[in-house]
Amino acid sequence: VAGPTGRIGSLVQDRLLARGHQVVPLSRTHGIDLLDGGPSLRTALRGVAAVIDASSLAATDNAEAERVHVAATAALLDAEDEAGVGHHVVLSIACLDRVSGGPHYVGKRAQERTVKAGTVPYTIVRATQFHDFPAMIARRALVDGVAPIPPLLLQPVAPVEVADVLVEIAEGQALGDTLVLAGPGTEDAVDMARRTLAAQGQQVTLRPTWQGTFGLEFAGEVLLADEGARLGRVTFDEWLGSLQ
Ligand SMILES: NC(=O)c1ccc[n+]([C@@H]2O[C@H](COP(=O)([O-])OP(=O)(O)OC[C@H]3O[C@@H](n4cnc5c(N)ncnc54)[C@H](OP(=O)(O)O)[C@@H]3O)[C@@H](O)[C@H]2O)c1
Repeated sequence: VAGPTGRIGSLVQDRLLARGHQVVPLSRTHGIDLLDGGPSLRTALRGVAAVIDASSLAATDNAEAERVHVAATAALLDAEDEAGVGHHVVLSIACLDRVSGGPHYVGKRAQERTVKAGTVPYTIVRATQFHDFPAMIARRALVDGVAPIPPLLLQPVAPVEVADVLVEIAEGQALGDTLVLAGPGTEDAVDMARRTLAAQGQQVTLRPTWQGTFGLEFAGEVLLADEGARLGRVTFDEWLGSLQ
């Protein structure tokens, strides 16, 4: 698991262990920087059947995002190829092609292209925003108790269901294709952030705005999944209830 200390990667690791798999954690915390590649990554992948890439790479601009996503993914795929890994599963973002987005979107598109061009059999799992996404971006933008937030229309999915699907897919044959995973209903991001932050006891004033990473191109139904997406069952209300 690449990114085993992260939001989704930690859930993936827990599920894999519960299902009796052995897990090799790939993250800087575990002494492996995907951007370095190198012998430690190659050694770690010996005997590995499948890799789930749930990492998230930081970048400040589009050029850096493209560079780090291509470098990390290519290093991972090279090491997988050498070790004979049979399935590369990567977590990506639904509706990635409908918007240009900020550096993270640029990086994720480059990551997908690298996976498709590689030699390791793959499955791309594109998930819609997670239930905790609006509160996360509000928290990141918080200054003096005020957080700007884009008034997005979302079809959010529960993090546990994303982890379940990644594990299920990794246990099977590579699809050589992209699967889209979305939540069961549509929600207003401002409302989601307000309710999540309140449930967590945080006093934040939210200022809806299209200025910032999520500009006007994100308005309307652009982030809602097409028909044919696989749908999770856990609603935002159920997820919120589980926090209390
Ligand atoms: N948030 C959403 O709503 C959403 C929706 C759809 C898809 N996604 C995608 O889901 C993925 C996972 O997101 P997340 O929120 O679970 O991530 P996260 O909590 O930020 O975790 C990131 C993980 O990546 C690892 N990592 C970062 N840089 C690394 C490097 N250079 N080498 C090795 N490991 C590195 C981190 O471990 P160390 O710090 O220990 O290295 C950590 O385990 C992302 O790619 C994101 O695009 C997110």
